[in-house]
Amino acid sequence: MSFRIAIKGRSEAVVAGMGETILAAALRAGVPYPCGCRSGNCGACKSTLAAGEIEMSPYSDYALSKAEREQGLILACRAVPWSDCEVAWLEADDVAMHPIRHLDCEVIEVGAATHDIRLVRLAIRAGGPFDFSAGQYASVIFAPDRAAAGAGDRRLPPRDFSMANRPGGDVLEFHIRLVPGGAVTPYVAETLAPGERVRVVGPYGNAFYRPRHTGPILAVAGGSGLAPIKSTVEEALARGAQQPIHLYFGARAERDLYLEAHFRALAARHPNLTFVPVLSEPGGPTQRRTGFLSEAIGQDFRDFDGFKAYLAGPPAMVETCTQVLKRRGLARQNCHADAFYTEADKAKLEGGE
Ligand code: FES
Repeated sequence: MSFRIAIKGRSEAVVAGMGETILAAALRAGVPYPCGCRSGNCGACKSTLAAGEIEMSPYSDYALSKAEREQGLILACRAVPWSDCEVAWLEADDVAMHPIRHLDCEVIEVGAATHDIRLVRLAIRAGGPFDFSAGQYASVIFAPDRAAAGAGDRRLPPRDFSMANRPGGDVLEFHIRLVPGGAVTPYVAETLAPGERVRVVGPYGNAFYRPRHTGPILAVAGGSGLAPIKSTVEEALARGAQQPIHLYFGARAERDLYLEAHFRALAARHPNLTFVPVLSEPGGPTQRRTGFLSEAIGQDFRDFDGFKAYLAGPPAMVETCTQVLKRRGLARQNCHADAFYTEADKAKLEGGE
């Protein structure tokens, strides 16, 4: 059984298969539906349900409050239709409208950014041009021919990674943190080599750079969350942004910091950029700033009124920083957060934990 989903502003309805969410059906059909986490936690896919019956799987109150649900709002990533439906996504003028591309890429570089983060560069060989907004991510399939090679290996599942490069050009950069025991990142850490093919599908995500904002920018990255924040900060500077840009980069210890020289050089060239690395577990005496990112930004700023904030990294870091920002006056529409959920995190959320 399948249902037709009419999306406001689109001439063609999309078809959702049995058990498929509205968001999944829309993305499969190539509709650039606004989304972020795809797990009911960020609210980026919030939509109005104008007609039809749906069932919502578990989601966080932050993404959709009880009052919003009672007003007929839904999360497209959690909504499974039980009839034909009509939906409209919110913030229609705040959506990155890029076509979904299926790219064939080739690995041109695999480097060690830290002991557990690989910096991977891919050259786009077919399927482009790849338009995206700084801060967005893509679904990446490494070794797509593995199963076909007959080596008895199972195909690696797709994983989401943020582009670390600025939009434009035909080389993509990803920062990939090793998740021990994971299905994909150990392959990237130990086996991936230049010359291999990689498939990339995207772009996705709603925590992208908004160039029309002229107030101060707070950019906060934890670990490999530096990737989308790097793209965002570099894009802002390349577009000639004149406002203060405060970049905070949180890592556990010295060995977890990377691209420090790159950002110090960028700050030397752009007086409006400040770069603040913060270590949460320095493990010994250090000259650096220490503590959690939420503490550092709470100490450095009294009021975030008029700011735009871009955050990316582990969910706990994004959550604690977002709370500080909201308490200090950041308007909700000026907070663009991308929490990096691991597959284990997503499985827990699916179980309602
Ligand atoms: S809540 Fe649906 S994409 Fe994040």
